[in-house]
Amino acid sequence: MKVSVKGFLYLLWARTAQAGCTTNLLIDNYANYANNLNSLGQWTSDDGTTTNFVADAANKKITFTTTASSYFYTTFACEKSTTDQYTAITFPMKGPAGATFTIELQTSSSCSTTAYKSYFTTLTGITGVTQTYTIPLSSFSGANLNAIDSIVFESFSINGAWEIGQTQLVSANIKSSSGGSTVSSTRISSRTSSIITSSVKSSTSSTATSSTSSGGKSSTSVLLSASTGKSTTTTSNTVSRSLSTTRSSSAPAGQCTSLLIDDFASQSRLTFLFYNAMLQPSSDDGTMAPVAGRVDTSTSVLVANNHVTLTSASGGSSYWYSMFGCLKATNIYGGIGLTIKAPKGTTMGIELQTSAACSSNNPTLNDLMSTDLGWTFDGTEQFYTIPFSKFSGIDTDHLIAVLFSSISNVVTFGPMAFYCGSTGTAYPVPTTVPVVEPTGTVPATTGPSAFVIDTFGNADTNNLGFWHGGDDTTTYKLSGNKMTINMKGNSDLSWYTQVSNGCSDFTANDNSYLHIAYTGSNAFTVALQQHNPTCNPNINPFPYTWDSVEASRYSNTAKTDLYVPLSHFNINRTLTVGFALKGFYTTTSTVFSLIEIVKTVPTGFLVPSKLTTAPLIFACTRPNSFAFAIDDGDPQYAQRIVSSVAAAGIHVTFFTVGAALLDTSTNLTNVYKGMLAAGHQVAYHSYTHPPMEGLPTLAAIDWELNNDIAAVSSTLGITSTYFRPPFGTEGARIRQRLAAAIPGAKFVEWSVDVQDWLWALSSTPENQITNFQSDVNKGGNLVVMHYLYNTTVSYLPQFIAIAKSTGKQMMRVDQCLEDPNAPPL
Ligand SMILES: *[C@@H]1O[C@H](CO)[C@@H](O)[C@H](O)[C@H]1NC(C)=O
Ligand SMILES: *[C@@H]1O[C@H](CO)[C@@H](O)[C@H](O)[C@H]1NC(C)=O
Ligand SMILES: *[C@@H]1O[C@H](CO)[C@@H](O)[C@H](O)[C@H]1NC(C)=O
Repeated sequence: MKVSVKGFLYLLWARTAQAGCTTNLLIDNYANYANNLNSLGQWTSDDGTTTNFVADAANKKITFTTTASSYFYTTFACEKSTTDQYTAITFPMKGPAGATFTIELQTSSSCSTTAYKSYFTTLTGITGVTQTYTIPLSSFSGANLNAIDSIVFESFSINGAWEIGQTQLVSANIKSSSGGSTVSSTRISSRTSSIITSSVKSSTSSTATSSTSSGGKSSTSVLLSASTGKSTTTTSNTVSRSLSTTRSSSAPAGQCTSLLIDDFASQSRLTFLFYNAMLQPSSDDGTMAPVAGRVDTSTSVLVANNHVTLTSASGGSSYWYSMFGCLKATNIYGGIGLTIKAPKGTTMGIELQTSAACSSNNPTLNDLMSTDLGWTFDGTEQFYTIPFSKFSGIDTDHLIAVLFSSISNVVTFGPMAFYCGSTGTAYPVPTTVPVVEPTGTVPATTGPSAFVIDTFGNADTNNLGFWHGGDDTTTYKLSGNKMTINMKGNSDLSWYTQVSNGCSDFTANDNSYLHIAYTGSNAFTVALQQHNPTCNPNINPFPYTWDSVEASRYSNTAKTDLYVPLSHFNINRTLTVGFALKGFYTTTSTVFSLIEIVKTVPTGFLVPSKLTTAPLIFACTRPNSFAFAIDDGDPQYAQRIVSSVAAAGIHVTFFTVGAALLDTSTNLTNVYKGMLAAGHQVAYHSYTHPPMEGLPTLAAIDWELNNDIAAVSSTLGITSTYFRPPFGTEGARIRQRLAAAIPGAKFVEWSVDVQDWLWALSSTPENQITNFQSDVNKGGNLVVMHYLYNTTVSYLPQFIAIAKSTGKQMMRVDQCLEDPNAPPL
């Protein structure tokens, strides 16, 4: 009998996420605001006209308080948006409910003239929550869109607190070609078609739409009054405040700061979602050598400690690229710099792709060899530059991508950034403050009972005669009354030893301790599992839940024994099933020799205090309830999900990945705003979708949680207390960090799995329906599915019909868990 009921959701997103092409132009994320520079390296300011002005780089927004004459502006080095095919300006904004404000666009008759005219659009419909405005440039009737000088936010009708998020120009030029032409080892040109194969991150609106708004309340359409409240031509005297710097085509000396391309902060951002730090595509398109012995990724593009290591496949066809949107570097950045560690004699090709049309479809390729740049290597990490001046005739107004190819050795890159001036310095590796866990201790107790559970003498049963075994028989080995486990870093695998065939009342052992004797790594979780209320393994979910503690916190300093008070397993211990060893975040083996219950701990062993774990939820608790909980998928299917759910007249919960939400090309922010407005729940699903428990450090876990919280807040204007773990991966560390980040947070798994990851692309996709029906028949009432595949999306109405036929009431996860903060049914 196996205890585990969940499957793995292997690389769901990744299958279709091969590097999308997004060519929106980031105007400002406020990272350089301290220097009064926007992300284009151009001047931006409020000229002191607001109060409490804060540039919040972490959340990519500015906040300020307005008075009667407040304004804020950002400038361009004369943007040719018609030529570059930008059709709209987009930004999230928050202001006092009922207020209006005006966007002023300043344009010249040509880029060689300094006089300009202003055009105005007034925006209404402000609700008090963050909403994304997308304003077609065509609404600035009469403006010369091929010579944009600046954008001004002004005429705030209500004085109070305002927020402007990341501003971008929206590209019309998202034509995704189906790609993957053969890669030539000599000419780099053929590689570029694979850069733009995309299905996930496609579809930026080519016609700008005004977005709908709202943070979970009623839907109010944001009225885009394209009518110009003011005269459409005003000459420079009324807008002289921004003139002084508008026309300077480069940042004033000393005011440029380097622009990060990637700091390799996350394996999953780079090789699962295929994003760099600019949230632009970055990938090797699977051309690098596959790596043996890593289960978290099948690529040899390996991220660690803010560096990426690339191992080329033999044959010379490997490459790796990172894209920038369509970046204007002229008179701002001198080149791209990065640190590289490579053996002596290493060479590689360096290609800069440009496109006057800001398109990645058929870019101009500018190629040099590392030797042309004078790069030599000696096995140590050093700073190298890719000066644009070395590429003769390169169009630095429209930089699309950097691509490395023909890499002759294993190389490791450090943070990569555009540098100012002509020489550049290495981009600083971000400093990470290690998370320090509480070290408090609690008094030792004396328990009533002691007995041996497992000495690993028997293949399938423990000393109590009950089943023991694991998810994957290749990951553990019993021999000579010892068991060696090495999950090779796969934090989703477990090994179990049971104390009952049904329910065991373990409360008789309260105040006793679980003792495990081991050697080797203690980077894993120990869990105590609880049966379902009927003690029937044929009812879903089984197990019903479990609680988790970190082996390392309960170890002695010699790393030979660990002792856990049974009361630290916060489950209903009258329904105990058994123990699980799980959440291994290591590739080092652990050898177990004894699992037992003891009455006391050795003298001198300090019992650590229990850290709060977010409760692990597989089932709805409200009588007669049923919840669809749908995880992020392929944006192209989002609208079909929206309409199926609407047609069924039900409310559901969506778990969303932060990085994809911030990527405006996915349109997911607008999709989820619509879903919130329609009464659905939206909650967290991590920032880049890694197996959270498998991350190497607590700081890495926190980075995922905090960035997701920030992304959901800045795009949707909401917070949540619900989290669904990517792949369902669970362990003590993620549950503790979640509880620390979000007090009262709930860790939501599932009891109905359509197994889309297994069947959707198979020859029998209808097995998704069979599986759904089967889990529902067993009493499952909390769904996992993704809108990643056409078949899954097509079956949603049938899934809903099956669920409804149980007679249960369909609702959001918070409602089905009887959350007092959930909206009424
Ligand atoms: C983006 O999503 C919104 C809300 O669902 C939808 O109205 C709009 O059509 C979408 N835009 C595109 C380009 O798909
Ligand atoms: C634990 O489970 C038992 C048996 O189902 C039940 O009677 C009891 O109320 C539960 N205790 C709690 C605290 O839920
Ligand atoms: C998606 O699935 C539906 C129903 O199975 C089918 O009719 C349709 O042709 C499919 N579309 C694509 C693009 O495969």
